[in-house]
Order: sequence, then structure tokens, then C-alpha cells
Amino acid sequence: MNVWGGRANPGRSFAMENLDQLQDDLLSQVEEADLAALEELRVSALGKSGTITEMVKGIGQLSPEDRREAGQKLNTVKKGVAEAIDARKAVLEAAALDASLADDRVDLTLPVRPESQGRIHPISQTIDEMVAIFCEMGFTVAEGPHIESDFNNFTALNIPPEHPARQDHDTFYLPADENGERKVLRTHTSPVQIRTMITEKPPIRIVVPGRTFRADHDATHSPMFHQIEGLVIDEETHMGHLKGCLIEFCRAFFDVDDLPVRFRPSYFPFTEPSAEVDIGCSREGGGLTIGRSENSSAEDWLEILGCGMVNPHVLKNCGIDSTKYQGFAFGLGIERAAMLKYGIPDLRTFYDSDIRWLSHYGFDRLEVPNVAEGLVR
Ligand code: DAH
Repeated sequence: MNVWGGRANPGRSFAMENLDQLQDDLLSQVEEADLAALEELRVSALGKSGTITEMVKGIGQLSPEDRREAGQKLNTVKKGVAEAIDARKAVLEAAALDASLADDRVDLTLPVRPESQGRIHPISQTIDEMVAIFCEMGFTVAEGPHIESDFNNFTALNIPPEHPARQDHDTFYLPADENGERKVLRTHTSPVQIRTMITEKPPIRIVVPGRTFRADHDATHSPMFHQIEGLVIDEETHMGHLKGCLIEFCRAFFDVDDLPVRFRPSYFPFTEPSAEVDIGCSREGGGLTIGRSENSSAEDWLEILGCGMVNPHVLKNCGIDSTKYQGFAFGLGIERAAMLKYGIPDLRTFYDSDIRWLSHYGFDRLEVPNVAEGLVR
């Protein structure tokens, strides 16, 4: 048995007829085929064990006279079928492309989509603005967990268990764990000072924006609020650096070049000496304006942050040599700064998730603040 029709030595005309028939059949199938059928056809005719391929293999079995003619004819058939398949394939592919171009057409005359609806929350915007200013000064951003150990939140910051400052913090305590340890929801961002000083070597220059928690709720206090902490530790850092850094920050953040800034002595267990920083404002005519007023007699002050030189006890608690290193720290409330800068009257509205409030006080998502192009555009 062979592919040439079962005859070891078929008559010439029979072999040629067979081939003509085969060619006609294949060509008409090609004309009918879609892309998938075309590929099947190619495999079944020209593939490794396709009809034509098998016939080529079987040529040796023909009589020497037939062999030449059949070989030539077979080549013509093979070429013709291959070309027909390629041509049909090109036509089908072009048609498919045209169809998908027609389907996917972009209608440039359509009106633009509605204005973007998402807004950046003023808290996020304020954090971004503050971080942009401090990063310009060479600070990097550090973060810490909301659930803190008592050691990081209090003890290492020079607030031992019996210290009265603990009472001021209205702390949320978690249930004691199996070792009797009671974790806390951090009451300030200051524990990240501790985490950083324990794990990193000076020089340190970080700001820490983040959430903080105190059991306190009224028009000016929320149980969850935000702070940004700053810490600088180096060999020759002094009060002049602290003042320069914070004056510069206040003027950049409130965008008032000659903003009056004053340092008032204060007390924090983790700094010595400590100060509170006030900025000049005016309450003329019932409103509030940050900065110098036209009529300078109406000058008033607003407290905005706490700061001081890091207490050597705190450095020691973190294993830093306090005879070699010193530095300064500061902390401020994000909500209060945002309210002052953007004239937001009620703290509670920050967390109401009221879309009307957000579209009024929020920021466009593409207006990413940076010092070079202006913090707010
Ligand atoms: N942690 C203080 C608070 O929550 C704020 C503060 C004051 C942070 C002075 C500091 C600082 O780093 O030096 O009230």
C-alpha cells in the first residue's frame, strides 16, 4: 500500500489525475476556510505527516519514468497549495484587523469624561506639604505602628509609670498579654523617635507623620488625630538649628515670608530645654489672619507646636552616647495646622466622610505639593 493509490507501479495518467484531483480539492477547501480551518488544512496537507508530505516520501516507489514527472507535479501542487493558504491567510487577517479597527474605533468627537471626582483629603494634603518642606531640608520620612509598647510610648521618652504626664495623655490601653504587658494605641508620634534611635546610628534626621489616639472627644479633640514628629541627632546640633529649622518651616508652610514666630519656654519630659512655638496672627474684624496685620497693634499669637533639645535621658535609653551626640525634636498636630491654613472651622468635619465637604476643602489629585512649584496651586 502506498500513498500513490495502492499500486506499486501505477499508470502515469492515474498518478497525475490523482494529483490534479488533490490540488483541486485542497484549493477549494482553502477558499472556504476560516483562520482556524486554514491552519488545520496546512497541517493535514503540508505538515510532517500531511497528505502531500507523505506523497513526496512515497515518490521513490514509483517507476523511474513516473518519478520525474510526478516529482515536478507534486512540487507544483505543494507550492500552489502553500501559496493559496498564505494568500487566504493574508486576506482573512486583513479582514480581522479591519473588523477590530472598526469595532474599537475611538470617537474623538465624544465630550470629555466628567471632571475627576476624587479629591485629596486636607489631612493627606497637609502631610504632603509638611513632608515636602522637611525633605527639602534633608529630612527623611520614618513610620511606626499604631499599637505601641508602653516603653516606646512613655518610659523611654522619660515618662516613667508614676509620671504625671501619663495622666495628660488619656491613653487607650489594650488588654494585657500573657506576660502582663499592656500595649497602648500610641498617644503621640514620639515613640518613633525611640524606634529610630534604637535601630539607627546618628546622624539622624527624620520626620514622622502619622495617626495618634487619645480618649478625648469634643469640638476640638478627636479620639484619632494626626501628628508630625521631627528628630535631629548629630554631634554639633544646638538650639540655633532648632530655631532656624522651625522658623523656616512655619514660614514655608503658611506661605508668609515675614511670619512672626516666637519660642515660649515650656516643659516636656523628653526635651530639655523645651519650648512651645507660636505664630503671629491677627484677629482683626472677627476673622483670623495668619501673619502680621496691617495694623500691627492687633497682633496676636497662636500656639502651633512643641519642641526642645532631646533630653540626655532619652538618648541614654536608646543607647546613644549623650556626651557625644545631642539633637532636637518637635511635634505638631496636623489637623490644627490644616484648620488654620485652610480656614476649616470644625475638627469633627475631617472625619465625617461628607462628599460635599471634601469637594469644598479637598485638593485635586494632580496638584502634588512641592516646594519648587508652590505648596498649593
Ligand atoms: N509628643 C508631644 C505631644 O504629643 C509633642 C511634642 C512636643 C513632640 C515636644 C516633641 C517635642 O518631639 O520635642 O504632645
